[in-house]
Amino acid sequence: MIGNIEAAKKETALITGASSGLGEAMAKNIALRGHDLIIVSENRKELERVKNDIESSDSAPAVMILEMDLFRPDAAEKIFSFCEKNRIPVGILVNCAGIFPTIDREMRDLGTIENVINLHVMAVTKLCFLFGRSMIERRRGHILTVSSIAAEFPDPASLTYGPTKRYILSLSEALHCEWKGSNVTVTCLTPGGIKTNFFKANSVYIPALIRRTLLSPETCAGIGINAMFRGAARVTPGIFGKFQSIFIKMISRPSTYPLIKKLYFSMKNRSS
Ligand SMILES: NC(=O)c1ccc[n+]([C@@H]2O[C@H](COP(=O)([O-])OP(=O)(O)OC[C@H]3O[C@@H](n4cnc5c(N)ncnc54)[C@H](OP(=O)(O)O)[C@@H]3O)[C@@H](O)[C@H]2O)c1
Repeated sequence: MIGNIEAAKKETALITGASSGLGEAMAKNIALRGHDLIIVSENRKELERVKNDIESSDSAPAVMILEMDLFRPDAAEKIFSFCEKNRIPVGILVNCAGIFPTIDREMRDLGTIENVINLHVMAVTKLCFLFGRSMIERRRGHILTVSSIAAEFPDPASLTYGPTKRYILSLSEALHCEWKGSNVTVTCLTPGGIKTNFFKANSVYIPALIRRTLLSPETCAGIGINAMFRGAARVTPGIFGKFQSIFIKMISRPSTYPLIKKLYFSMKNRSS
């Protein structure tokens, strides 16, 4: 159940990937703070479920659904022009939509690679610039991007997930620095594992040891949204996430990659 905890009319928030997992938890967290929402994904049925959940409480904010396939290279322009046409000034942008393309799919199908680049690079960049520019004109706004600790190392499970998430981190840091004086904040969330359908939906194996350390989407969302409103440059949620991030940086380098790869695939094969 969602109820307003702040009464005043607030900026509208646009959240991509709000039909499940972390994006859904972020939408609910921001709704609790009294902001109207535009929730985006390509799954209308799930977006309607999230909208109904949020609107089921008294004095809940308004939730608008925008069905959009973010693999389309022109998706960001379409989203921006939808907001312009409906005269909705977006003051909060959360780029949460993401996929995990496994190495098998990447090696088989160039279309998978194009999709992940369009989703993680093209859509995120264009949305940041389109909405960021109008936030700068209004001299207020918050942007949150979702990267991953996979940005820190060569992951044998996927060859494009980590690099595209690294791009998101680099872009966010650049925008954070460049737009600092404009009252528009840009924050990057770099989570470790989160308990969502992400791995199952993308057929990714997660070792049992790591599975036990997964954060709930609600906890991760809360930490990310608080950091966004504080205007932090970057946040890695949870003690295990922070530990994983430091540990991964320490152990992964080109010379250790063959060993990491061997270990990963032998654990994966044993579990299947
Ligand atoms: N789970 C983790 O352990 C973990 C760790 C680090 C970072 N992350 C990041 O967290 C973010 C959210 O992931 P999650 O764990 O919450 O997984 P999830 O439940 O699978 O959510 C993924 C979201 O992205 C949306 N999406 C995917 N492809 C799309 C497309 N072509 N067009 C529009 N929307 C699309 C999905 O919408 P549809 O239902 O319409 O497909 C869904 O709302 C991702 O960016 C992921 O990389 C996750």
